[in-house]
Amino acid sequence: MSDEKIYDVPADWKAKAYVDAAKYEEMYARSIKDPNGFWGEQASRIDWIKKPTKVKNTTYDPHNVSIKWFEDGTLNACYNCVDRHLPKRAGQTALIWEGDDPKDDKTITYKQLHEQVQVFANVLKARGVKKGDRVTIYMPMIAEAVVSILACARIGAVHSVIFGGFSPDSIAGRLEDCKSTVIVTADEGLRGGRKVPLKANVDAACDKVGGVNTVIVVRRTGTAVNMEPGRDFYYDDLALTVPAECPCEEMSAEDPLFILYTSGSTGKPKGVLHTTGGYLLYASMTHQYVFDYHDGDVYWCTADVGWVTGHSYIIYGPLSNGAISLVFEGVPNYPTTSRFWEVCDKHKVNIIYTAPTAIRALMQGGEGPVKKTSRQSLRLLGSVGEPINPEAWEWYYHVVGDDRCPIVDTWWQTETGGILITPLPGATRLKPGSATRPFFGVVPEIVDAEGKVLEGATSGNLCIADSWPGQMRTVYGDHQRFIDTYFKTYPGKYFTGDGCRRDADGYYWITGRVDDVINVSGHRMGTAEVESALVAHAKVSEAAVVGYPHDIKGQGIYAYVTLMAGEKPSEELRKELVQWVRKEIGPFAAPDLIQFSPGLPKTRSGKIMRRILRKIAEDEFGNLGDTTTLADPAVVDDLINNRQNKK
Ligand code: PRX
Repeated sequence: MSDEKIYDVPADWKAKAYVDAAKYEEMYARSIKDPNGFWGEQASRIDWIKKPTKVKNTTYDPHNVSIKWFEDGTLNACYNCVDRHLPKRAGQTALIWEGDDPKDDKTITYKQLHEQVQVFANVLKARGVKKGDRVTIYMPMIAEAVVSILACARIGAVHSVIFGGFSPDSIAGRLEDCKSTVIVTADEGLRGGRKVPLKANVDAACDKVGGVNTVIVVRRTGTAVNMEPGRDFYYDDLALTVPAECPCEEMSAEDPLFILYTSGSTGKPKGVLHTTGGYLLYASMTHQYVFDYHDGDVYWCTADVGWVTGHSYIIYGPLSNGAISLVFEGVPNYPTTSRFWEVCDKHKVNIIYTAPTAIRALMQGGEGPVKKTSRQSLRLLGSVGEPINPEAWEWYYHVVGDDRCPIVDTWWQTETGGILITPLPGATRLKPGSATRPFFGVVPEIVDAEGKVLEGATSGNLCIADSWPGQMRTVYGDHQRFIDTYFKTYPGKYFTGDGCRRDADGYYWITGRVDDVINVSGHRMGTAEVESALVAHAKVSEAAVVGYPHDIKGQGIYAYVTLMAGEKPSEELRKELVQWVRKEIGPFAAPDLIQFSPGLPKTRSGKIMRRILRKIAEDEFGNLGDTTTLADPAVVDDLINNRQNKK
């Protein structure tokens, strides 16, 4: 079994990393035994306006979940990411921007970042944005995305970034939920040579919800877009009208920093709320230790700023550490499948942090496109977003890393703010496919269906026993939903929604979601969201969506669709429904397979038995378990006979 395959920590890593195996054990033990002492000391890694005297004040009591860290401290997150570096590194590169077209790139120093953020902050202020207001950001991967996010933090506005792949409907839902009146966007985005109509999507979203009074448009492609007089302004026009300097707002550690919407098993996406002090400290500390970041290293996280990975590990973690952070506008296979590695060579990248889905996609092209590049600058490889299968891990290690670079497989979630389970490259022996051991202060627990804590080598549902500083504080506007979602299933614990195995060495192996959330190419979505998009189509009467194993995407989307009486299944309708979901949610949510089924397996009380649908989608229909409680067992035979071919 692949459990037994172990890669030792290379000698040079043991010698020069911040943490070796002995130090990890010592620091970990201390962090658990004395969280107040441990985190109280760590607090000094960030600059406070008023130093906190209180450290941890948290309870997971399901009647009253309350999470506060460093509550009497004050600080500014933007100050920590920009201003505080000026005495030492004003002239150092903060951001390397690599455009979609390999001919486009630029660098921004900390001094330039400081100048640009202040102007952006003043533009927001001039449009009436104040501390506590929500600003929606719907941007391509350009430097202004980072600048606008930091500008919000500077003036104490709460940013809500929406991934540029989301549809107008998805934008509208998020705008409505957080009642934001200001949107920052670009005329168009550019990815893989294709244009993304960002401003047009914002217009369509604004047509659906009222309340937006300002749309700030950054010019990316320069194409002419609709500009609503009095509401829409080009950023570069506004920038000419504001002062150059903008002070940082003093924020309490527990003031909101951002909202990021994420999907769960039920209902609309939740506004995950992160606050300022604990989040920043945790992002900063994990970035330093997990990537063993040293001054001058060129660090590249390939995520989009629209996801939490971009927030914590393109922006807040690296910039609070004074790092050089690479921002990439493009995709792994444009213009060719060598692009990632060419970018590494061009900018002498030392640390790359990417997703298993990208690795699996590139693996399909064989070693050639990798081996024609040097990659000599690479020292460390990171993985995030979904379980990495051992084959992809080995390929990443041998082919990309030339057997030289440790891999940090980092497990975490939008809700956790930062990495919770991960190797530390100077400390942890690696097992391909395992996220290995907990970070400092993190106590994973594996529980059975009844919530009993299981010891030793075991498997079950993954919970975290106590709070850590980067944890989300609430669901924006709905604290009860926060409690119900994360603290009710196993009272007294944070429930992650993931299944997990722990081996005899205490290594954790995340096995994927145990709820109705699917992870498609690292994009997290609720099956219920795809179902509601499908049933919103006039010809669809009912829909059930499940995930199935997909070679590249990790999981693919399998939709069972029952049509309205009188409607006939056809290839055209199948295509129409795929297009429909793309339009309703976004291209990444398009079903891979649609099976038209006259009926769905339901219990006598009308509940859809998803377990059966999942098994059929996984081609495991020999083992459907108990079907005697079905209202009409004959439905199952029809589903099996008409299942969709995966190849
Ligand atoms: O199922 C886990 C999976 O991604 C989920 C969190 O998704 P999201 O909030 O979008 O955040 C993604 C980036 C942090 C988790 O519940 N996941 C994330 N990282 C890993 C993972 N599964 C296995 N191994 C990982 N390294």
